[in-house]
Amino acid sequence: MTAPIRSYVLRQSRTTPAQRRALEELLPKYGIAFSLHPIDPQQVFGRTAPLVLEIGSGMGETTIEIAHAHPQNDFIAIEVHGPGVGSLLKQIAAQELSNLRVIRHDAVEVLEQMIPDGALAAIHLFFPDPWPKKRHHKRRLVQPAFAALAARKLIHGGYLHAATDWPDYAAQIERVLSAEPLLEPAPHKQQRPRTKFEQRGLGLGHSVRDLLFLRRKK
Ligand SMILES: C[S@@+](CC[C@H](N)C(=O)[O-])C[C@H]1O[C@@H](n2cnc3c(N)ncnc32)[C@H](O)[C@@H]1O
Repeated sequence: MTAPIRSYVLRQSRTTPAQRRALEELLPKYGIAFSLHPIDPQQVFGRTAPLVLEIGSGMGETTIEIAHAHPQNDFIAIEVHGPGVGSLLKQIAAQELSNLRVIRHDAVEVLEQMIPDGALAAIHLFFPDPWPKKRHHKRRLVQPAFAALAARKLIHGGYLHAATDWPDYAAQIERVLSAEPLLEPAPHKQQRPRTKFEQRGLGLGHSVRDLLFLRRKK
């Protein structure tokens, strides 16, 4: 069997002692271990609330801000990058947020294995790795199979909100999500805080596009 093409490459990156400590001490508390079985969100959060999944939370500042501003929703952030997960965990603990959990694993496998169909009120995909070189385009997360998988996980009327500062990736996201029969484009009205990666792009003179798609009600 050939290994699946991933949307990330895990590089040896420097984890600060505080991030390492957070991973060791806080992941058992605020993390959800990857497993091959679907989670029960009600059991995870101890209540029934709209569930929002963020893919690629990076260093997590935006994730924290959104979870803090929406106490009525529950959030799961997925990220593979150790320092980012460590940093997010530290912020969850510092703010004592009870509506945010983290999964340190490939988001595609998490969606496939752990998220029940129709469980998500929303998916946030803020600045997915752009993989700008043509020979790397196959690594871009938003492909037809991903669109079908993501759509299946949304409740009817739930939304997928993507943002990118790479015009040709924005065009690809629009094309791929528009071709998914379970999704329909919607006018972008969703507010969100500026992310760290976005800030860098804006500094380089990039312009940002937000795209919003709704899961059809049938
Ligand atoms: C360009 S960064 C953007 C981070 C953050 N959203 C921001 O805007 O600052 C993309 C992030 O997605 C993560 N990522 C990429 N593919 C992933 C996957 N399949 N599962 C989980 N995380 C992934 C990367 O590790 C990286 O931290």
